[in-house]
Amino acid sequence: MADDPLVEIERRPITAAARILAGGPVALVTSSDRGRMNVAPVVWHTPLSSTPALVGIALERSRHSAEMISHAEEFALNFPARALLHHVQYLGAMSGSRIDKIEATQWETFEAIEVDAPLLTGCIAWVECKVQQVVPVGDHLLFVGVVVSVQVLPHAFDERWLLKDADVRPLHFLGERYYSVLEGVMEARAPGNSDAPERVLADRLVEELELSHDAQERRAELLGELAHDVALGNVIDVSQVGMGPGPLWAPPPGLALPHVSEGERER
Ligand SMILES: Cc1cc2nc3c(=O)[nH]c(=O)nc-3n(C[C@H](O)[C@H](O)[C@H](O)COP(=O)(O)O)c2cc1C
Repeated sequence: MADDPLVEIERRPITAAARILAGGPVALVTSSDRGRMNVAPVVWHTPLSSTPALVGIALERSRHSAEMISHAEEFALNFPARALLHHVQYLGAMSGSRIDKIEATQWETFEAIEVDAPLLTGCIAWVECKVQQVVPVGDHLLFVGVVVSVQVLPHAFDERWLLKDADVRPLHFLGERYYSVLEGVMEARAPGNSDAPERVLADRLVEELELSHDAQERRAELLGELAHDVALGNVIDVSQVGMGPGPLWAPPPGLALPHVSEGERER
């Protein structure tokens, strides 16, 4: 790795922002309108409010789903796992304006609890929504939905995605034809009661960064240089070895370590 980490930074087109933000679980949005059903993959979705529970999906104006959901004023989100990988890609490559994708794929559906949109078998979680408002945003329409029902497979999701069984992990979209699944769960240590939470954060950050591969390499290099100096009988500065916050790592200029409030700890 180069000494100056900034030299590796490259500029990308502004359209890359959507791919950088991407990575949330893929959802298949289902709708039912005037006797027809439809399904399309969406990844531009987001939670918007806890109370009331609101979620948003951004659909390009030309999508058949956008027209159906505008009229039906409800939709359902179905969360597929890896067995449906290729289905997801196909469903995103054709419009429901020309074919009935659910019939064409002979996909088994079951009745939702609160909406008419069908729920898809083989998925691992289902969220039903009634449209509260439609907000035009650039070339998309943001459908803000009030969540009216949530169902899950409990071995896939409990209070959170469990990720124990590889067959019931949500799919994450990376762009083009590329997907991924989360590998496992890491539990972060939370700060305890402390008079100086900033100090705790700074110490933890230093500790974790120092465990990183680069830091270990750098420390080995420094120790080698110091050993060489010792062998030559030179005067050495032991503070360079950096046993705590010190010269091996310091926050970049301008980076203030955040204060963690009670409310922020949960998210
Ligand atoms: C993984 C994946 C995610 C997608 N996410 C979105 C999205 O968030 N919003 C959108 O408008 N289109 C999205 N698309 C494209 C639509 O799913 C695609 O245009 C689909 O054919 C629309 O079907 P419809 O016309 O029947 O609604 C996505 C496609 C794929 C493969």
